[in-house]
Amino acid sequence: MTSAFPSVTVLDHPLVQHKLSLLRDRETSTNGFRRIAREMSLLMCYEVTRDLPLTMVEIETPLERMQAPQLLGKKLCFVPILRAGNGILDGMLDAVPVARVGHIGLYRDPQTLEPVEYYLKLPDDIQERLVIVVDPMLATGHSVAAAVARLKEAGAAQIRVVCLICAPEGLTTFTTEHPDVPVFTASIDRCLDDHGYIRPGLGDAGDRLYGTK
Ligand code: URA
Repeated sequence: MTSAFPSVTVLDHPLVQHKLSLLRDRETSTNGFRRIAREMSLLMCYEVTRDLPLTMVEIETPLERMQAPQLLGKKLCFVPILRAGNGILDGMLDAVPVARVGHIGLYRDPQTLEPVEYYLKLPDDIQERLVIVVDPMLATGHSVAAAVARLKEAGAAQIRVVCLICAPEGLTTFTTEHPDVPVFTASIDRCLDDHGYIRPGLGDAGDRLYGTK
């Protein structure tokens, strides 16, 4: 489903929407949250990779030879933004086990409120890969925008973003800075509140994934 933001796709598949409601529910346990986030990100990976090119190769079934479709060697790299991004990495890897994984760590400077990079590890051939940045919540949009800027600096030419939930304010920031980067999400929620939480949202994704407070 398209959205008010031309580069943003909202995944309205019933399974995605059902799982999102389970994640939002405050009664969902840490264990349940982790499992559902993994299931949901597998489904979201299915959509974000929908246009990967295929080629035909000859294979032999037990009965006959045939031309069969196979991925055209498009190499993928998932890049979770630490720490909550790790919670939707495993589902992505369930869908594409051969993908490489880079990591980026950012924290918010308490004075400037700007994201500061504290960790970056990417595959050497990042420029040849389709890079999929994963972070459960796109709130102000600053972290995801900074991560994408850093990946562009490192040579990544094809980048997509997967977030479970986005705030409209954050999408305005992100899509203004990176109009060339498609975003896939399960929901554009109502707003960002004064404490930086997405409303209605699901709370702090990192705390809910790891049982911290
Ligand atoms: N990060 C979260 O985990 N939750 C929010 O609501 C906003 C940012």
